[in-house]
Parts: sequence; structure tokens; C-alpha cells
Amino acid sequence: MAGGDIVIREMVPSELVFVETVHASAFGRDEEARLPNAIVSAGHDVISVVAVDGEYFVAHALFTALAGIDRALALGPVAVVPERQGQGIGMRLVETGVELARNRGWRSIFVLGDPGFYGRLGFRAELATGAVVPWAGPNFQAMELVPGALEGWSGVLVYPAAFEQTDH
Ligand SMILES: CC(C)(COP(=O)(O)OP(=O)(O)OC[C@H]1O[C@@H](n2cnc3c(N)ncnc32)[C@H](O)[C@@H]1OP(=O)(O)O)[C@@H](O)C(=O)NCCC(=O)NCCS
Repeated sequence: MAGGDIVIREMVPSELVFVETVHASAFGRDEEARLPNAIVSAGHDVISVVAVDGEYFVAHALFTALAGIDRALALGPVAVVPERQGQGIGMRLVETGVELARNRGWRSIFVLGDPGFYGRLGFRAELATGAVVPWAGPNFQAMELVPGALEGWSGVLVYPAAFEQTDH
């Protein structure tokens, strides 16, 4: 099955408990699972996207506002439950969030993750080299939603405190 019945939409806060189980099963540990609740509860500006199959939550991606830069989001965590991975759901999920971000006037998105996945979505390590973060390197990538948004930019990216407890 290619996930044809999957609905991708924004999460409502009461669904955080389901989102937590998606991350726990995909990552096999609690660090990422706790993050969405911690971020949303702290009142950060987010775009939170879920993939739902009937009553089952099968995937979630969180985009959170960063400080230290104009209108930029951090993407993560992103997870698809193990039994639905490799069906294109992760790509559709992130693409939906990126489109929402673009429509709401966000200018760029940063992510730490496998370039094999995020590169296909348009993220590039070269665009993130100006960012001063502890996890800088080839897996730290960015996407411009407004052409030239990151051109010539450099500075310290400030993540919400909750991210410090994970390897994001
Ligand atoms: C990584 C993850 C979100 C991808 O979602 P998914 O629905 O399985 O991915 P898709 O089916 O949309 O994959 C799209 C393409 O990216 C590739 N891809 C997926 N995960 C990849 C990875 N970790 N590394 C490299 N390529 C990957 C797929 O092979 C696929 O390419 P293909 O169509 O040529 O086969 C999902 O596998 C997952 O939740 N993994 C565990 C948690 C995790 O590692 N999250 C990411 C950290 S932020």
C-alpha cells in the first residue's frame, strides 16, 4: 500500500499524546517523543503536521521558530511509525509543512538529519554554513523559502531550550 488513505494536516494540541507515541515507536527512545509537548507547552510558534490513517497517527513533523535570525524555523523531530516507513509519507509530511511555512511568511528552515532524505526535499548543507550551532557539519542543512534569504547571512541560531536535551 502506498499510503493512499493517509490524510496530512495540522495537529491540534489535544493530539500531542498521539504524536508522542509516533516518535517513541520510530526512534525507540523518549528524547524525541517528549520534545513536541515541551516545545508546544513552552508557547513557541510552531507548525506541527501529522499524517493520519483513519484513527491512527502514523507520522509527525514539527517546525519550531528559531531566534537569532529573521523568520526561520527548525525542522525536527520528524518520524513515521516503523510499519509505514518507506511509503513516501515522510516526504509528503515535510512537503506539507514546508508549504504551510512558505504561505505564512517564513523565510528559511534548518534541519539536522540524513542528507539522503532531506536533500531530496531541497535542503542543502551549503545554505547552513553561516549558522553557528553545536551540531554544524554535513548533516546540518537549510532551505530558503524566500530566494536569497540565507545569502551572506551568518550568526548564532538560538534553539528553544528543550532541544538541548536531544542531539538536534
Ligand atoms: C526518516 C523518516 C522520517 C523518513 O520517512 P519515510 O516515510 O520512511 O520516507 P519516505 O518513504 O518518504 O522516503 C523518501 C525517500 O527518502 C529515502 N529515505 C528515507 N529515509 C532515509 C534515510 N534515513 N536516509 C536516506 N534516505 C532515506 C527513501 O529511500 C525514499 O527514497 P526512494 O523513494 O528512492 O526509496 C522515517 O524513516 C523515520 O521516521 N525514521 C526513524 C526516525 C528518524 O530517523 N527520523 C529522522 C530524524 S529527524
